[in-house]
Amino acid sequence: MANLSLSILVFLILSLLIQQNECANIDVYELKRGDFSIKVTNYGATVLSVMLPDRNGKVDDVVLGYDSVKDYSNGTTYFGALVGRVANRIGDARFTLNGVVYHLSANDGNNTLHGGKTGFSTVIWTVKKFLYQHHVTFTYNSKDGEDGFPGDVSVEVTYMLIGTNKLALRMKAKPKNKATPINLASHTYWNLAGHNSGDILSHTIQLLASKITPVNKDLIPTGQIVPVAGTAYDFLKAREIGSKILELADGYDINYVLDGTGKKHFHKAAVVHDSKSGRKMELWTNQPGVQFYTSNMIANVKGKSGSFYQKYAGLALETQGFPDAVNQPNFPSQIVSPGETYEHIMLYRFTAE
Ligand SMILES: *[C@@H]1O[C@H](CO)[C@@H](O)[C@H](O)[C@H]1NC(C)=O
Repeated sequence: MANLSLSILVFLILSLLIQQNECANIDVYELKRGDFSIKVTNYGATVLSVMLPDRNGKVDDVVLGYDSVKDYSNGTTYFGALVGRVANRIGDARFTLNGVVYHLSANDGNNTLHGGKTGFSTVIWTVKKFLYQHHVTFTYNSKDGEDGFPGDVSVEVTYMLIGTNKLALRMKAKPKNKATPINLASHTYWNLAGHNSGDILSHTIQLLASKITPVNKDLIPTGQIVPVAGTAYDFLKAREIGSKILELADGYDINYVLDGTGKKHFHKAAVVHDSKSGRKMELWTNQPGVQFYTSNMIANVKGKSGSFYQKYAGLALETQGFPDAVNQPNFPSQIVSPGETYEHIMLYRFTAE
């Protein structure tokens, strides 16, 4: 009798464990070093929070986000998400490669945005490695034909804390059987004064980029590469984001051509500073461009802990290749062939002064 009870108990515990394993395929991982910590989830390989001390040591969450994973799956904001297979817009949701026309899923009028209807931001990634509080690596196998893209691709992203208040992201992708465009980006929205502190218009930003790729009314590049000098887009010297924003039709949502590209494999892209909290963020990358977006389309979005985010609530600095590169012969190619590896590195350094 005792043996039977024990067997039943073991069976119950085992089934509970198995069940938990099955349900627990979406989880939250915390990386932490002193007062600096981040939380990420394998749903969309998404950054959920970044806790950062200000100049007096007060810690705030400096990224926009939602309270639950369900909100992330219903949202259209890409808060914190890892976007792909091709970040940014592809005009008319199609491109031609090696004589074949590929039709993608259109999710932004007639265009494809951030990979299409599914995209890498709405799939559950596999947790390949989690070194407690230090780094986490997610992997995802994108199938041939997913959102219309050619070939199978294995993708890997690692979030890692290094040194003092430094966060590194490494994105890698390998096509298995067909050449395909690959352009991954991390779509985190920053507000260095705190995610629910209002707008980012008084943050200063420096963008180490002398040129931009202008877009048409649907935000598809015209193919030109033009200098920023003398325009509201010129952030070569740090100045307040809001200082010329009203000269633009609808805030900043544009790809900057980074000056460091070509000279150095790894170059500085941007410096953002909030004088109220003293928090400063520097960003380095190996990518040729950075999309600077000032949350122009955010309106009354219900965010973390009962907050509501409005226009200009955060800023995104999405390092990447140029938008619509598959249809723009003038832009650096994003085609990666089997045997080649796509690699994208971002390094954030946070200080408070
Ligand atoms: C999409 O394309 C069709 C056909 O060219 C056009 O009639 C329609 O206005 C376009 N839709 C948008 C949202 O641009």
